[in-house]
Amino acid sequence: MIKSKLPATGTSIFAVMSKMANESNALNLSQGFPDFNCSDQLIDLVHSFQRKGLNQYAPMPGVPALLEQISIKTKKLYGKYYDPQKEIVVTSGATEALYTAISVVINKGDEAIIFEPAYDLYAPAVTASGGIPVFIKPRSDYSIDWEEVERRINANVKLIIINSPHNPTGKLVTRDDILTLENLAKRFSFILISDEVYEHITFDSRPHLSISSSELLSERSFVISSFGKTFHTTGWKVGYCAAPEVMMNEFKKLHQFVVFAVNTPVQHAYAEYLKNEEHYLSLNKFYQDKRDIFLNEIGGSNFGFVPSEGTYFQLLDYSGISDLDDMSFCEYITRKKGIAAIPLSPFYSGEYKERIIRICFAKNDDVLVKAGSILKTL
Ligand SMILES: Cc1ncc(COP(=O)(O)O)c(C=O)c1O
Repeated sequence: MIKSKLPATGTSIFAVMSKMANESNALNLSQGFPDFNCSDQLIDLVHSFQRKGLNQYAPMPGVPALLEQISIKTKKLYGKYYDPQKEIVVTSGATEALYTAISVVINKGDEAIIFEPAYDLYAPAVTASGGIPVFIKPRSDYSIDWEEVERRINANVKLIIINSPHNPTGKLVTRDDILTLENLAKRFSFILISDEVYEHITFDSRPHLSISSSELLSERSFVISSFGKTFHTTGWKVGYCAAPEVMMNEFKKLHQFVVFAVNTPVQHAYAEYLKNEEHYLSLNKFYQDKRDIFLNEIGGSNFGFVPSEGTYFQLLDYSGISDLDDMSFCEYITRKKGIAAIPLSPFYSGEYKERIIRICFAKNDDVLVKAGSILKTL
């Protein structure tokens, strides 16, 4: 018999809620993906590279033209130069980048600090490598509780994982957070994984503060992003990881045996598409408009909310509406009201008693208006 590496892990809440949404014919605001298509130009580019015959294995670290564009973009936006030949790898989504980076860092018995609420991949990936997740709960406004970090950090902590813009809370790290991390980095020798898949989705003129922009932190960080989030192509599963050469050498050793290389024509298409920065710099406004359409619609409702600062997620507090736990409330609104959302409890390791759900507003405007008008009646 197989001895499970993840005995406590079941089906992800995203699969559960999407299935329930389909069964109930509900508007699916649960799983985080757009219900609109990516640009025709991007699709044409993929076709054109397929027709040119670029359909065989790509180089293991990625297509050089794409590595080059990622390097240019990162330098331009965050001031950090990563050598495209040595310090960047194109991955099968941010998922593979995260799993590979965590596997590279964590050995048996190592501790990894994970901030809750946390994306569902982090802790299982740490556990599968024999590590021990150290969960840290947020302050009441979802900012990072650095006093708690100070209490829990020790020489056995080999990894800290941060995520900004943050799924599911929509919070962004601040300059103070980065300063605090820099001070910790002077005292402890952890590696940092920075999950920045929503880097181009920030609101109300807030900048995305990439960890790559900190000289001190970038020297010990795997910085990870995803083209799926940026170009409305989550199903293409292409992302990337950037880190100093010595770290990337270890990363490549695993990456080559997990996927070897990533979809060739898609990489060429992204490389070309990235040359026009308008494609990603206009994303903030695009999603801010969607956030505002949804929030205007539910303004004056019985839901409590603080407008999301980034990502395409919005938290809603339903304590003024129902005493049901969050899973039961999501089931109720899916089956009876025709709106699927995600409960927050699966983002926490222990007991969770808040009355909060997450909705995804990467949806067509008419869907957002319809969903808002139904939620307003609760
Ligand atoms: C915070 C976060 N990290 C990583 C991922 C995975 O990204 P990808 O689809 O590129 O694998 C997601 C996707 O929802 C996410 O929300």
